[in-house]
Amino acid sequence: MSETHTSESVEELQRNALAALRSADSAEQLEAWRVEFLGRKGLLTTLLRGLGSLDIAQRKVVGAAANQLRTELDLIFEQRQQQASANRAPVGSIDVTLPGRKFSLGGLHPSTQMIREITQAFNEMGFQTVEGPEVELERYNFDMLNIPANHPARDQWDTIWVDSESRDDILLRTHTSPMQARVMETSKPPVRVVVPGKCYRYESTDATHEWHFNQIEGLAVDEGITFGDLKGTLYEFARRIFGTDRKVRFRCDFFPFVEPGVDMSIEWNGKWIEILGAGMVHPQVLENVGYDSSKYTGFAFGMGAERISMLRNEITDIRHFFANDLRFLTQF
Ligand code: FA5
Repeated sequence: MSETHTSESVEELQRNALAALRSADSAEQLEAWRVEFLGRKGLLTTLLRGLGSLDIAQRKVVGAAANQLRTELDLIFEQRQQQASANRAPVGSIDVTLPGRKFSLGGLHPSTQMIREITQAFNEMGFQTVEGPEVELERYNFDMLNIPANHPARDQWDTIWVDSESRDDILLRTHTSPMQARVMETSKPPVRVVVPGKCYRYESTDATHEWHFNQIEGLAVDEGITFGDLKGTLYEFARRIFGTDRKVRFRCDFFPFVEPGVDMSIEWNGKWIEILGAGMVHPQVLENVGYDSSKYTGFAFGMGAERISMLRNEITDIRHFFANDLRFLTQF
């Protein structure tokens, strides 16, 4: 101990210790104070250890002062500790001074929002919403829709088949059209349904193609339904979803389950963008489900929910829908 201790250094230590103790409130701060001043390597202990280097007369005076300080500090420390534990909130109590916790609210996925808006538009036109299986039988996805095995139209839908030991006719549906047959099989005309749901195709992705996406199928069958009803219904749909000014175009297209078949495009920034396939239900499809095709006629359509949302919301890449990036999703 190089420093020589005097009565003054005891007084100085006392001032410092009391000042530090006044500003220590929490249990952690009090413990830090105890270590600093009273601990084994603390300032007071160090001072007491250094007394040996003093002459006898000085040692007596400084020693007595230092021991008295020790007793005083012990006592005050104990009092402060008791105060601190009395002030501490009881276990399980609520600290009302803490800031509130933020609840983050989720929202509907943009595909779901679009599907709901479209199905609601059709509901208001008298169509009922039904849903069907995503894992489908070849019979409904193809055969009942006038697409027999080896028909070249099957190439149009690159299909994801389910690996099953017992059967080889199970697949992830490539479109929502199988629900046309399922609905007609179990109900009598008049039929007016919309069918939203997920479809899967074994295809490479790009800005406008996903390997899984949502479609909304529509089907209306009754006596006397004409191509005029098809056009009128789809014009009304386009008016409700895209507004009255948007131009719509029909062109001939081929789908084995309709005759005649069309596709419908929307004008977008000076270009025509195809959004759906449609047509008059093929008589063979009506016969396949036991309907009399000389009595009943109908129309059907199938549209891509994400494609329509892209047009409505100026989304440039369909892959955003399923990338689960919150920066995209929270914009809807
Ligand atoms: C069909 O799937 C027919 N079932 C539609 C139909 C129903 C025709 C009833 C006649 C009567 P298509 O493969 O063209 O047709 O798909 C229909 C719509 O689904 C497209 O216009 C597009 O909006 C959307 N779509 C098709 N493939 C993809 C894809 N890979 N990614 C995103 N959307 C797609």
